[in-house]
Order: sequence, then C-alpha cells, then structure tokens
Amino acid sequence: MINSNVALYTATVFSILSFFIFWTQALASQPHILLLLVDDLGWSDVGYHGSQIKTPNVDRLAREGVILENYYVQQYCTPTRGSLMTGRYPIHTGLQHRAILSLTPFGLPLEFSILPEKLKDVGYRTHLVGKWHLGYYTSVSTPTYRGFDSFFGFYNYGHDHFDHTHGGFLDLFRGEKVARGYNGQYTTHLYVQEVEKIVKEHDSSKPLFLYMAFENVHDPIQAPKKYLDKYNFIKDKDRGTYAAMMDVVDEAIGNITEVFKEKGLWNDTLVIFSSDNGGDPFYRGFNYPLRGYKRTLWEGGVKACGFVYGQMLKRKGVISRDLIHVTDWYPTLVNLAGGAIDSKPMPVDGFDVWETISSGAPSPRKELLHNIDFPEKRSGLLLTYDTWYSGAAIRVGDMKLLLHVPNATWYQVPEEGGIAPDMDEIWDQKTNIVELALYNVSADPSERYDVSPKYPNIVRHLKDRIHEYWKTAVPPGIVPEDLMALAVAMKNKAWAPWRDTCNAK
Ligand SMILES: *[C@@H]1O[C@H](CO)[C@@H](O)[C@H](O)[C@H]1NC(C)=O
Ligand SMILES: *[C@@H]1O[C@H](CO)[C@@H](O)[C@H](O)[C@H]1NC(C)=O
Ligand SMILES: *[C@@H]1O[C@H](CO)[C@@H](O)[C@H](O)[C@H]1NC(C)=O
Ligand SMILES: *[C@@H]1O[C@H](CO)[C@@H](O)[C@H](O)[C@H]1NC(C)=O
Repeated sequence: MINSNVALYTATVFSILSFFIFWTQALASQPHILLLLVDDLGWSDVGYHGSQIKTPNVDRLAREGVILENYYVQQYCTPTRGSLMTGRYPIHTGLQHRAILSLTPFGLPLEFSILPEKLKDVGYRTHLVGKWHLGYYTSVSTPTYRGFDSFFGFYNYGHDHFDHTHGGFLDLFRGEKVARGYNGQYTTHLYVQEVEKIVKEHDSSKPLFLYMAFENVHDPIQAPKKYLDKYNFIKDKDRGTYAAMMDVVDEAIGNITEVFKEKGLWNDTLVIFSSDNGGDPFYRGFNYPLRGYKRTLWEGGVKACGFVYGQMLKRKGVISRDLIHVTDWYPTLVNLAGGAIDSKPMPVDGFDVWETISSGAPSPRKELLHNIDFPEKRSGLLLTYDTWYSGAAIRVGDMKLLLHVPNATWYQVPEEGGIAPDMDEIWDQKTNIVELALYNVSADPSERYDVSPKYPNIVRHLKDRIHEYWKTAVPPGIVPEDLMALAVAMKNKAWAPWRDTCNAK
C-alpha cells in the first residue's frame, strides 16, 4: 500500500516535472510574430521584382529570408483577411461574394476562433494596428472582442489618409473608442508611432503577436510631399503618388525593424510579409507580367508578393516555389506557437508549411481552391447582387482551371511604357465572360495559352474537384444594406457598431 503510494507519488511528481520542462521549452521557442500585410500591393511594385519604386528595407528582409514566389491570397481585402484569421477558404467563411456598396460590410462569423485568440491562449500579447475590415455590425465583432489586446486603426475598406474619414464620417479607433484629434496626420506615420509604443512597452518575457495591417497602398492615392518628390520622374502623376505610398511603407518597415532591435526582440521575431490581393491598375497598382488585377481570379488578382524572414529559419536567402496559400498561416503560426488548432465549426483548409519554408521540404499543399462564386439573383434595398462576382478557379499541381470568370487583360507598368486603364475599360472587360480556360501556370504564369482543348481529362478532373468543394460551401454571408449604420454614423459623426443590444464589455 505504502509502496504503491510512493510509486504513484513519484510518478505524479515526475509527470508534473516533465510537464513543466515541456512547458518551459515550448515557451522558450515561441517566436514573436510580426505580420506585415500591405493593402492592394501589385506584383510588380516591389524592388525585388524589379520595380523602380524604391523598397530597400523590404528587399533586404526578402533577400535575407525566404521569398515565396508561388504564394497566393484571395482576390480582395475581406476574403483574404478572413482566410488569414481562420485558415479557411472563403466558401467556408461566407466571404466568397462581394456586395457592391459596403455601407454594412459583412463580417467574419463569430463561431470561428481566430488567429489572435489562438495565440492569446498560449500566452501571446496580441495587437492589431491598421485595417480590420472583418465587420463591426455589433461590438462583439470588433478586434478587441476577437482576441486582440489592443487595436488602433479603422473598420472599413479604406479612408482618407489625412483626415481618416470614410464616406464623410471618421473611421479611426483606439480599442472600441473613436480616435479623434489626429486630423492632418498621415495614417501610416500614426501606425508606426503606435507600433513603436507597443514594442517599447511590451513585457519581453511574453511572446508578441503584432499584426500590422497597412492602409497603404489602398486608394485614395495620397502621400505626403516629402515622398512625392522622389517620384517626379514618373510621368503618370497618380502612379508617382502610388510609388510614394509604397515608399512610405518601406520606410515604416525600416522603422519597425529598428524598434524591434532596440527592444532586443528582433532575433526571436518571425516576420511575414504579404499583400492582401493584387494591384488595381485603375488606382495605379500593377501586376505585370501577370494577367488581371484585384477582384479577379486571374494570377494578377491572387498571386501575391510574400516572404518570410527570421533567425529561426533553417535556410535563408532562398526563393521558394512551393505552392502556399494565405490559409496556411493559421495552422503554421498556431503550431509554431504551440497552440491548438480546432476543427470547429469546420476543418481548417490551410496546411502547416513551416518545414517547407524553413527547410525546403516538399509542400503538403498540392491543390488550391481560388474561389467559387457564381452570380446570384438576390434583391436588396440598394444592391444588385449579380454585378460583382469572381467565378470559380482551382489549381492542382501546375494546372489551373477557371470557370465562368469575368475577363481581364495585362497592364504594363506606366514607367515601363504602359497606360493605366480607366474604369470604363475595366468594366467592359468584366462583362465579357470567359466560360472555361485551362492554363499550365508553371510553364505559362501570364495565362496566355489556354490549353483546355488539349487536356480534356485534366479539365474534367478539375471541374469535379470544384464540384466537390461546392458541396461544402456555406451560403455567402451578405448582410443586407442597413441604413441604421448610416443613422448611427450621422449621430456619432463617426462609424460605429450599429446593432448593439448591449454595449457593456
Ligand atoms: C521613420 O522614422 C523617421 C525618424 O524618426 C521619421 O522621420 C519618419 O517619419 C518615420 N517614418 C514613418 C513611415 O513612420
Ligand atoms: C542578434 O543576432 C546577431 C547576429 O547573429 C548578433 O550579432 C546580435 O548580438 C544578436 N542580438 C541579440 C540582442 O541577441
Ligand atoms: C479576354 O481578354 C483577352 C485579352 O484582352 C482577349 O484576347 C479575349 O478575346 C477575351 N475573351 C473574351 C471571351 O472576351
Ligand atoms: C506544365 O509545365 C511544366 C513546367 O514547364 C511541365 O513540367 C509540365 O509537364 C507541364 N504539364 C502539362 C500537363 O503540360
């Protein structure tokens, strides 16, 4: 009896001890995570892709890290952000379809436990600086209720970079409170000051998750004069301003790097850099030689600039051509942090790609659903729902099938002789539907040669895969246009959650 008690006691002590050893090891290896998301950055608009826009800080981090040259996101802001936060495809978050106005932007369903919540569970301090754009219908859908310890930024898709208004009302918040008193200060400068404050005040014994979601280089096309002067050589004036906006982003990343170094966090920081979708040539973001742009499932809409940097990478200074998608960050980062991935309300679509990036192991991802979004007849107060949709596209290995997609062409960068399109031109292309096309995007990354007549079996297989995915899709989570949002904004002189039944936190 006594002996067995002693044995039990010893076993218990031993397992508690090994638990603590495991726990401290897990903690010691948790990296700080700096997630840099640039808004609407075009494929051709970074120095390391040969741009005349100067991005020395971005280029240095990219070249000393692992550049992801076969990396994909979604076709515009909200679905990419939803997939980044949940690891699920837009057909599984209800963010596959776009409403024309965003008076009442649809949000991310609350039943998903999102990335900052998962990191917070394992001890991270979590901060969002910049753009949320995943809904603010009620307070509980805003960042500080979704796992972020702090939030300084805006709710909608974009705002004036100097007065921070969106559609005539202020859209700048600190936590849940409207942030007034910043009129005239360029948003990116404000964000960098916020990041500096967060990093300086951070308790270094805790892992840090900092999600810096830049507003640049999203329209309106605006930049402070100091940066504009550097791009006088670009004849297309708006393109010069866009270049200046990216210049600010690069300077911001340089400043953020410095403050991480001063605080002594840099060597333990994993940096992820990504665009949220392709550039929009109307607003002077370019994706040449890729076809298409933001909103489309052509490569120019979904193939993004991306890289990873950090001392913990086993290989550095390399280019990865493995297939990686924005849904992969969620399982990759949660696993690195020692957190738990849940399969509720449905399984994760992303893959843990850490070994692929860090050691060059073959990517577990062989297939990538770009989206499924067909026109639907729905009627709303102010909307015709069937005007903005992406169609469907899937990638399996080298091959990509597009079904019923709005057409799109190639736009060369203005400073290389290209001409930016006007809205009518983009609209005209959109009304021409390409019913079916197949490309070998490894051999033909610019999608110039439709090889569907040559490979009927591949077409059939990829179509079947789309239909398999379609069976698992949730209905698009479009909130009807809600004039209450406008009424609340008029009353507050700022946008705010407009359907709160309970304001207490
Ligand atoms: C970066 O830091 C310098 C020096 O403090 C400052 O002048 C500049 O405005 C900062 N840039 C940004 C984008 O915050
Ligand atoms: C960070 O790493 C560099 C290069 O390995 C080293 O020179 C430096 O001392 C390290 N800094 C800290 C704070 O550990
Ligand atoms: C799509 O656009 C391309 C490039 O402008 C053009 O060659 C092609 O004919 C268009 N296809 C359709 C169906 O409009
Ligand atoms: C696609 O292109 C790659 C690279 O050129 C080649 O290895 C592969 O065989 C091609 N696939 C098909 C089905 O043509």
